[in-house]
Amino acid sequence: MAAGVVATLQIEHAHELVALAGPAGPRRGREQGEVAAIEDGAVAVGEDGLILAAGPTDTVRAAVMLAEEARIIDASGRAVLPGFVDAQTHAVFAGDRVDEFVRRLEGADYLEILAAGGGILSTVRATREASAGDLLARAQETMEAMLRHGTTTVEVKSGYGLSTADELKMLRVVRALHDTAPQTVVGTLLAAHAVPPEYRDDADGYVRLVCEETIPTVASEGLARYCDVFCEQGIFTVEQSRRVLGAGQKHGLVPKLHAEQKGRTGGAQLAAELQAASADHLDHTNDEDMAALARAGTVAVLLPGASFILGEPHGAPARRMIEPGVPVALATDFNPGTCPILSMPVIVGLACLRLGLSPAEALVATTINAAHAIGLGDEVGSLEPGKRADLLILDAPSYRYLPYYFAANLVHTVVKDGLVLVEEGRRQEIE
Ligand code: NIG
Repeated sequence: MAAGVVATLQIEHAHELVALAGPAGPRRGREQGEVAAIEDGAVAVGEDGLILAAGPTDTVRAAVMLAEEARIIDASGRAVLPGFVDAQTHAVFAGDRVDEFVRRLEGADYLEILAAGGGILSTVRATREASAGDLLARAQETMEAMLRHGTTTVEVKSGYGLSTADELKMLRVVRALHDTAPQTVVGTLLAAHAVPPEYRDDADGYVRLVCEETIPTVASEGLARYCDVFCEQGIFTVEQSRRVLGAGQKHGLVPKLHAEQKGRTGGAQLAAELQAASADHLDHTNDEDMAALARAGTVAVLLPGASFILGEPHGAPARRMIEPGVPVALATDFNPGTCPILSMPVIVGLACLRLGLSPAEALVATTINAAHAIGLGDEVGSLEPGKRADLLILDAPSYRYLPYYFAANLVHTVVKDGLVLVEEGRRQEIE
């Protein structure tokens, strides 16, 4: 038997295996909710950390030979799923915003706090002051906590530097995370996250700096795959966003956009026009925006944690997106302001309870569709031969328990690239 079919890890007898094998590209429309769970499922993993086979236990056993030292995990009574892909985070920052949180509970408005120099800008002050080493240590702790909640791939943005030097500092930390954290980490430049104090009355001047200096420098160091903008009333206009994303494209950075979070600005239409990899938030999209996103194939990354924490009465109109065929993904948006939630299971719960997704749609949104939102759909997000062996075993028989018990962490085991990194909820040391 060829070396390629010798398994060093085999997970067997899962009560339910959700492999999400299927069409190339993100799932949309009816397919968003089709998970085809397999009873008595198994996954075999090769020495290279890639999946050899996934399917019914009998079929996998027949297809794969076990190495002498192979580890076999009995997943009886448990569900096996792809690892979560968190497609939007701001996980590198210093300080916290608990004072702002309490002020908002008392009625203060998020954008007004920012306009007065607080909010994002208070995190910018703290992040500029912090050393790269301190930012990295803090972000590594975040990554470890995310891992225990089942996240095996993470997108991380800059955006709390707002000068070329400080954005570079942040993105070098993101690269160091990529090299040292257990997850696969993808970097995004978000220099256009807010207008920095130095350019308080000259947003266009800051946009010029981002286009002419920050983007070329970041791209020449290969520090980011994506370029993102916070397109919002009082932050960056559609025209300014177009300039930044266009400059990013000229330097090989793929566009993403924070769009229609607090109000409708036309950002979703811009994302569709540029065929952005994703448009994120979208709480205030209308039907024309959705039709445009569906035509462009842009993934809608919905962030129900942010709208929940901001006390919005509802989040994005997810059902009205799925029907016309917008591929929907979900992410935590982990950041110190609008979403201090780093747990993807909590996001699954909020998506079902507040956005009206079914548990199956939410699972697709947090795995394979999220992988496509960050350009990794061929590597992660489903359990198929040749993909990275990134998977979870839940302490529950079905993925449907995730939103039901969303306040608990049901993640029992986490396998990343074929290594068992978490078992019985505890981090394992790997030699
Ligand atoms: O995605 N809205 C813009 N950016 C973040 C919030 C960042 C912050 O408040 O620090 C978001 O919600």
